[in-house]
Amino acid sequence: MVVNGAVNGSSGSSPSRAALANGSSGSGPTRTVLVTGGAGYIGSHAVLQLLAAGFRAVVVDSLENSSDLAVRRVAALAGDHARNLAFHKVDIRDEDALETVFASSRFDAVIHFAGLKAVGESVQKPLLYYDHNILGTINLLKVMAAHGCKKLVFSSSAAVYGSPKNSPCTEEFPLTPHNPYGRTKLIAEEICRDIYRSDSEWRIILLRYFNPVGAHPSGYLGEDPRGTPNNLMPFVQQVAVGRRPSVTIFGNNYATKDGTGVRDYIHVLDLADGHVAALRKLFDSSSNIGCEPYNLGTGKGTSVLEIVNAFEKASGKKIPLVIGQRRPGDAEVLFAGTGKAERELHWKAKYGITEMCRDQWNWASKNPYGYASPDSTKQNGSISH
Ligand code: NAD
Ligand code: UD1
Repeated sequence: MVVNGAVNGSSGSSPSRAALANGSSGSGPTRTVLVTGGAGYIGSHAVLQLLAAGFRAVVVDSLENSSDLAVRRVAALAGDHARNLAFHKVDIRDEDALETVFASSRFDAVIHFAGLKAVGESVQKPLLYYDHNILGTINLLKVMAAHGCKKLVFSSSAAVYGSPKNSPCTEEFPLTPHNPYGRTKLIAEEICRDIYRSDSEWRIILLRYFNPVGAHPSGYLGEDPRGTPNNLMPFVQQVAVGRRPSVTIFGNNYATKDGTGVRDYIHVLDLADGHVAALRKLFDSSSNIGCEPYNLGTGKGTSVLEIVNAFEKASGKKIPLVIGQRRPGDAEVLFAGTGKAERELHWKAKYGITEMCRDQWNWASKNPYGYASPDSTKQNGSISH
């Protein structure tokens, strides 16, 4: 079991040349980043990219919606860089436990993924969402401040925009979330803006993700939702592996190219790279970043039918479709304006829906039941490179 310590038990050898170029200040030691929620879908991919870029990563996660196997697979995929990975099973709502983690290591920055993300559940259980997403964030910020760690990358969401009337949606659009989940993201953003106003030493990047899909090309890391998936692609994936009979399309009478909703799907690897770019910005002392939001999307709109067709091509599986009612609160068309991230973070998504569907299917076919798949124990640390 990987709890409270270095994942592979080794530590200490000197950083590689790549590490010096990226994860360290050049002449100084390798930089250490605390990653909350690093066992989750996006967090696990980001941790792997951070390690590859030469950072040291300390993951804290309650494993509420994830498996420690994801962290062990990150370690296996990271090869030699795994010596720079540690994991602590910690709930960020437990301030004492967070304090213990901060007392054990000096963090140069924090990437804060931990939280709950199911929109429907947030409507049913708003206090649970405020508890994890707001109280958890407040605890984290308090402990960061107490330890003088004032660089933060926060996982926000396109949900903060609600249903904008037009796209591309830029960072200046009104922030009018439609549900408790989206409101927790907006409130956390506002807390960050207030903290920066109170103390200009803080450097905070708010990343507003559009629709993350896909998986690591190895097929060892991917999305593993508990219960019925809320989002389209995890649902499609479960139909493809025979766990569900069909996908219901939420409305085919929108004013779009084929009547179905249009979204900005982004490969999780591109998203992970966006976090490395954000960290570089935080560590770039030539810019006064303050507290800034950035959209992470591709800037391209894809309809439900288009992405399902692309998945059918990638998997060779027929996905039975049922036309259903519109889902309340859904936008007709939503895709990102990406110019700000391109200009200021020097980041741009590289992958299209073909690669997203290819990698999602590779993950699904190897792990039809996610990390609980029967043969998954064979993939717990013996990944070949
Ligand atoms: P995920 O559920 O896979 O990962 C979140 C991780 O946080 C999980 O490992 C979970 O166990 C952990 N966690 C939850 N509450 C915690 C707590 N109190 N203490 C410690 N750990 C806790 O979700 P994800 O898709 O990887 O999302 C990561 C972040 O990105 C979330 O904040 C989410 O709201 C945000 N986001 C996700 C999407 C998306 O579509 N996946 C879109 C926009 C924003
Ligand atoms: C949803 C959330 C949003 C959150 C985002 C990423 C809602 C109203 N919005 O956005 O707050 O930030 O996930 O986590 O829940 N679709 C189907 N059938 C399905 C599922 C989805 O047709 O079974 C359609 C939707 O109507 C939409 C598209 O597929 O047009 C994408 O849906 P989804 O993956 O849920 O993402 P969003 O709606 O963009």
